[in-house]
Amino acid sequence: MRKLRLGVMISGNGSNLQALIDAAAAADYPARIVVVISNRPDAYGLERARKAGIDAICIDHKDFDAREPFEDRIHEVLSEHKVQLVCLAGFMRLLTPGFVNRWRDRMINIHPSLLPSYKGLHTHDRAIEDGVRFAGCTIHYVRAEMDNGPILMQAAIPIANGETPDSLAAKIHTYEHRMYPAAVKLIAEGKARVSAGKVVFADDVAMPDEGLVSPSA
Ligand code: GRF
Repeated sequence: MRKLRLGVMISGNGSNLQALIDAAAAADYPARIVVVISNRPDAYGLERARKAGIDAICIDHKDFDAREPFEDRIHEVLSEHKVQLVCLAGFMRLLTPGFVNRWRDRMINIHPSLLPSYKGLHTHDRAIEDGVRFAGCTIHYVRAEMDNGPILMQAAIPIANGETPDSLAAKIHTYEHRMYPAAVKLIAEGKARVSAGKVVFADDVAMPDEGLVSPSA
């Protein structure tokens, strides 16, 4: 099987990276991670990658005096590894339009909210503070505007009575770990693509037909 070549970009723990590593360990998974790039030397995700025998490279933004040369180096490493799809997985640097456009429709991100609500940081605190009944997470193609771009997959997670940002984060993480490998699989199998600014799916992609009501009714 010809597998889609993934480059994963991280800044921290890398639990989403781990979910991709674990999924890619299956012989029939249609993608493989060829390089992991972190902008932080202490990112635990680098260790996860090394343990899995994946090239793990730190490109520290502090070693560069501007965004462009930092991103040029990232682009170089991705290109050297013949990456076909970039997966941002907790990569905490904003990317310039120049870089984003070089990877247009070939770069996806995971964000812990139901976009387009709650872009940016502290999504769980803000959702709980607002009293919305659903939080969630989103995988989307990356566009130059932060946390923007055609949406590929979302999970809606009810906010429980007495929910705290930490308890919500833990719940959302489990869905993130389930969704990221599934979203990459859809792309690798050619079952999801961007058309006219939206993601369109092949006819055999399963969609749930039940809604969610919270509190239950
Ligand atoms: C995730 O919650 C993701 O949605 C956000 O950053 C977090 C990364 O977590 N973009 P991890 O490093 O994968 O554990």
